[in-house]
Amino acid sequence: MNLLIRHARILTLALPGGPAGPRRGKALGELGVIAQGDVLVSDGKIAAVGERVDGPADAEVIEANGRVLLPGFVDCHTHACWAGDRLDEWEMKLRGVPYLEILKRGGGIHATVRAVREATQKQLASSLRDRLGLMLREGTTTVEVKSGYGLATEAELKMLRAIRRAATEWPGTVVATALLGHAFEGDLDEYARMVVKEMLPEISREFPDITVDAYCESGAWTVDACVKLFEKARKHHPIRVHADQFNSLGMVPEAIRMFARSVDHLEAASKKDLVALAASETMGVILPATGFHTDQRYARAGFFVDQGGAVALATNCNPGTAPTHSMPFAVALAVRHCGLSPAEAIAAGTVNAAAVLGLADRGRIEPGLRADLVLLHHKDERQLAHELGGNPVDLVICGGRRMAPGPA
Ligand code: NIG
Repeated sequence: MNLLIRHARILTLALPGGPAGPRRGKALGELGVIAQGDVLVSDGKIAAVGERVDGPADAEVIEANGRVLLPGFVDCHTHACWAGDRLDEWEMKLRGVPYLEILKRGGGIHATVRAVREATQKQLASSLRDRLGLMLREGTTTVEVKSGYGLATEAELKMLRAIRRAATEWPGTVVATALLGHAFEGDLDEYARMVVKEMLPEISREFPDITVDAYCESGAWTVDACVKLFEKARKHHPIRVHADQFNSLGMVPEAIRMFARSVDHLEAASKKDLVALAASETMGVILPATGFHTDQRYARAGFFVDQGGAVALATNCNPGTAPTHSMPFAVALAVRHCGLSPAEAIAAGTVNAAAVLGLADRGRIEPGLRADLVLLHHKDERQLAHELGGNPVDLVICGGRRMAPGPA
């Protein structure tokens, strides 16, 4: 099947002759714009991009009329597989009870753990599938989905199998992550020992390439527990870590030392740690919907980028701290609160987010790459960051296929 998109303002995100891998520093804001051009899609891939491209006679033509065409969003940090809801806790939070206090009282992550344990694999897969459908409508074509609400080997495996199943029923790409250190029950040292000795080997057997993640925070996993898990895990798996969300505990230098793919959150990160992170290969992932929903604290992404850091942007879609599936909303928040320009936020949610997931075949509009494309209603990409609460996406092309409007 061939598609020819004509007369679009194309944000290629491609930097001819530029360095491969994630964009850093000034290069983050370079969108590689073709002011008016065409894109030919063939057999699921981008076949040609340029100011004038001719397609085969049977190509379906999409007239963009000068509107913006960009790569599909890559949402590189979500907890989109869950059961139940946390609306009662949200009301507590509105009355002033902080997130970590709710966690300490056995709510928060633990409330979702209880609901996930009660749900069947099929139910988890089906609700995830519904959320993926909503994401696609707002331009997300690749999604990372973490486990982490099982807190026991079988329940974690149930989550990962549900994620794998939902992935087969969705036209986009789902990348599963094993969040083995999200919380704990009983004594942390004992629990963490069980995870390293029993859970990690089981997960490795069934999901040999999966990335391993942990949540380093007061009331969750300590730096020491995370390091013990990661030292074992990184022999066979990429690692990522949630760190410095509420408290800066010293995880950032350890993540750099262990060549973590990313450190995610960073709302409470010190300037010193941000400078060190910027000088490393480890990427920073910002999740501004979390600050928006919880306590109005945001990662200093502008500062991080000025130091030469490689930043990515994600929704953190989850039932507690970020009840959103919208990358356009994440872009709007990153621009308002994290110090990124609209162009930088777009690059952080496409090319750089793909780099966090180790996916070199997307995040840019270049011949040979997977044809995941988003056509906006707008002719100026800054509208993506400016508009609040609407859906700026007119059309999504996923794996070379034009998606029907409405529920995916
Ligand atoms: O990134 N902080 C840890 N995990 C999520 C929250 C998950 C939850 O509250 O269910 C986060 O904010």
